[in-house]
Amino acid sequence: MPAVPLDPRDSMPAPQQPHWTQGTPCQQPPWTPETPCQPPSNFTGPQGLHASSPTGHLGLHASTPKGHPRFFNQLYAGMDHYSLAARFITEALNPSVYTYEVSPAFILIEEAVLMKMIEFLGWKEGDGIFSPGGSVSNMYAVNLARYNHCPDIKEKGLSQAPRLVMFTSEECHYSMKKAAAFLGIGTHNVYFVKTDDRGKMIPQELEKQVERANEEGAVPFLVIATSGTTVVGAFDPLDEIADICKKHNLWLHVDASWGGSALLSRKYRKLLHGIHRANSVAWNPHKMLMAGIQCCALLVKDKNMLMKYSSGYWTSFL
Ligand SMILES: Cc1ncc(COP(=O)(O)O)c(C=O)c1O
Repeated sequence: MPAVPLDPRDSMPAPQQPHWTQGTPCQQPPWTPETPCQPPSNFTGPQGLHASSPTGHLGLHASTPKGHPRFFNQLYAGMDHYSLAARFITEALNPSVYTYEVSPAFILIEEAVLMKMIEFLGWKEGDGIFSPGGSVSNMYAVNLARYNHCPDIKEKGLSQAPRLVMFTSEECHYSMKKAAAFLGIGTHNVYFVKTDDRGKMIPQELEKQVERANEEGAVPFLVIATSGTTVVGAFDPLDEIADICKKHNLWLHVDASWGGSALLSRKYRKLLHGIHRANSVAWNPHKMLMAGIQCCALLVKDKNMLMKYSSGYWTSFL
């Protein structure tokens, strides 16, 4: 009798790659700006895509099949059919949640989803916003933490601010440095904290880095812990990190872009023990929750902060 596969996906053929990715693998890591991932030398460019079929005309046959059960890659968690159906609906209705007038139902849905996520964090209240990516959520959080430390920065700008230093682990996502660069904090003012052999931030090393910044006359303002690091999936010890933040009056942001969805698991939610003590959290339902890409939330414990510090000014036409 033929063996019955335990997982029906085991008996499925591997997804077909588009013709122009076959036989021409990307450069092997480490990639550098000099060795970027390139299409093959015989790739004729987008003008060749319409040649063979109606789907080709739409560019479909030149896409990697991400809905296939055996498609694995960073960022994608798989294809959820409810999510796909919901995306057809949202594309058809083309809503924008900037006013109740154009999107009454979607504004209420957004609010309900954010509140449910806040409940999972263990906060009594809070506010949130969906953003174009975990990187952007992290940048918003750095901005809020800075406002928290320098309340008049919105009006007076960087010229009035001291040298601010933020802390995160060696295993953090690259968006931390990007946020520091974009916001004028400077990448040299991101202090990286050593991790243990499983990739988790070592709290004692964090304490040392905070002391180092103080001795240098800089102003520590923010710690970013990671729940689910990009490469090894490590969860930083949030409770111990929160103690240090409390002692030094530092904003605690948790980048749970990857691992936040473990909060929905009775078995694994302990990995995020202490997340209720964070000031802000980035969480991407498009990762482990299988929402369609992109679905990223920034959640903030102080329910007034987003409106006060990150909004533009009131305007009469909205
Ligand atoms: C830990 C972590 N933070 C942030 C991000 C950035 O998320 P996005 O790709 O949605 O910008 C990622 C993406 O892989 C991540 O793994």
